[in-house]
Amino acid sequence: MAIQFTFHHKEKYIASKQWEDSLIRHQKIVEKAILGSKEKVQYANMLGWMDFKLFASNEELDEINTLSKSIRENYDVLVISGVGGSIQATLAVIQCLKTADFETVILGNTLSARAINSILKKIKNKRVYFINIAKNFGTLEPGIGFRFMTDYLKATTECYAQHVSVIGTKHSELHELAEEEGFRFWPFYDEIGGRYSGLSVVSLLPLAINNISIEDYIEGAKSLQEKYRKGKLVDNPSYQYALARFELYKAGKDIELFAHFEPFLEHVAKWCVQLFAESEGKENKGIFPTRASYSEDLHAIGQYVQEGQRKLFETFLHIDKLDDQLQVPVNDVEDGFSYIEGKLLKEINDIAYRATIAAHDDANVPCLVITLDELDAKHIGELFYFFMVACYMSSMLIDVNPFDQQGVEAYKSYMFTSLEG
Ligand code: PA5
Repeated sequence: MAIQFTFHHKEKYIASKQWEDSLIRHQKIVEKAILGSKEKVQYANMLGWMDFKLFASNEELDEINTLSKSIRENYDVLVISGVGGSIQATLAVIQCLKTADFETVILGNTLSARAINSILKKIKNKRVYFINIAKNFGTLEPGIGFRFMTDYLKATTECYAQHVSVIGTKHSELHELAEEEGFRFWPFYDEIGGRYSGLSVVSLLPLAINNISIEDYIEGAKSLQEKYRKGKLVDNPSYQYALARFELYKAGKDIELFAHFEPFLEHVAKWCVQLFAESEGKENKGIFPTRASYSEDLHAIGQYVQEGQRKLFETFLHIDKLDDQLQVPVNDVEDGFSYIEGKLLKEINDIAYRATIAAHDDANVPCLVITLDELDAKHIGELFYFFMVACYMSSMLIDVNPFDQQGVEAYKSYMFTSLEG
């Protein structure tokens, strides 16, 4: 099994009988999460992320690969503008798997002049390819990114539109603009929401430009879907994880800390926070998701986890086999660290990981673990599918709509009144 869910000392937090009953009792509520959009289920019009026909056809994959190759050959830097769920998966996969020596810069996720200035300086005199990702072409941050980049390209190139791809809703203003100006247009399907778009065309172009196998990435998700459809629900790891969260939530554990021991997983943790916060945090319900990058954050947030309020549980993202091998140097400097010299860093990091789980569990922090065998495009595709299914199931369990996010509009109405007034 490429992806595994385990709950460390589960019986300490949920009695075996309660767990077994719960597994059986909630099956009816969550089974729709593995049936897919063909079935008549609630929110059927938002289940495009389960329908691989909508992700990318073979023709689209070929088109993406061809364009990516030409971008790598003819440009120095890729600038992507986008924010929130619409871009988080792209950032996560690039951070985990990027091998190509091709610079990728993110704009459109900030209103900070300093941040935007530093990006403009970084790309100065470089040949830039620009991708704008916006499901609704009204969000301010990517809108500002779009304005700055079209301005830059108009000033520095002859046919500026040739250097631009836009990913947006069909028949939207962005689509019309693309046709008027001559940008390449890629569809952001109505049936796939921003934070559920990670495996769709929305993410694929930037990934392919970064030399990441988009075929393997989609294959990972597809193969998990097949397994889920054939397998029994009680054995389904997404279901077990969703149910563990639900039982812990009912027992008052309403903070989930996504933790990892590899800094390159930070954006995956951020993607998890994005997915669960916007999907579940509504109607005064939901687990508050947050993240920590260990071992660094053990020297900060670790104190709270060990001895603060007993309201949280942790979900560890763990990779079993990693290629990078590094040994602690052996030398004669009397620095007091001779007890680790010659040891592999992976070995030390794994010991710290196991020690952390033991100490946090001793302090009554439930520790859930999601393990991937290894880190490659296939496994990341699988991981995203695992979490999206789990999030859908989990939202069904607490009875909220996982596909809207009305709450994020509240500050915007104040902001737009001031900006337009
Ligand atoms: O998950 C979501 O739907 C949101 O996080 C959106 O992706 C985010 O608000 C950006 O939206 P848009 O792509 O329309 O600018």
